Amino acid sequence: MIPARTPTPDSASALALWNTTAAADALNTILADILALYLKTKNFHWHMAGPHFRDYHLLLDDQATEIFSVVDDIAERLRKTGNTTLRSIGDIARRQTIRDNDAEFVSAGDMLAELREDNFALVRALREAKVLVDEAKDNATSGLLDGWTDQAERRAWFLFEATRFA
Ligand SMILES: [Fe+2]
Repeated sequence: MIPARTPTPDSASALALWNTTAAADALNTILADILALYLKTKNFHWHMAGPHFRDYHLLLDDQATEIFSVVDDIAERLRKTGNTTLRSIGDIARRQTIRDNDAEFVSAGDMLAELREDNFALVRALREAKVLVDEAKDNATSGLLDGWTDQAERRAWFLFEATRFA
């Protein structure tokens, strides 16, 4: 007996073969946080002052460049897995868990300490997202998360060591 032929899924449903909804929510929050962290890192890069100006100014520029480099990869993973992603600054503001810092003056030490904690929080969020992505059998995003986590851990390490005896 010839088995009934199952219909060929169209490309949109093929992309949504896995249940990635919970993982997508986590990734969209991470994307909002990465954009918030990018702007805060640039903010502190621009407003840095004090005896270690050159070192800290350059460190934060390097970190901001690295943070921004993952934005497109995260957004496109969300689209490839059949989900939607961020659409506006307002969308970022509604989702972000990393808080803005609009203070007129922040000392160099406080800037580094705040970014250290923000990057540690991002590491925790990336590790939690990895569990959801693995449950959804989304191997490619899982592999990318390892690299994004390593980068965030490196930034947190630099900021931790730079603030340790301050
Ligand atoms: Fe700059």
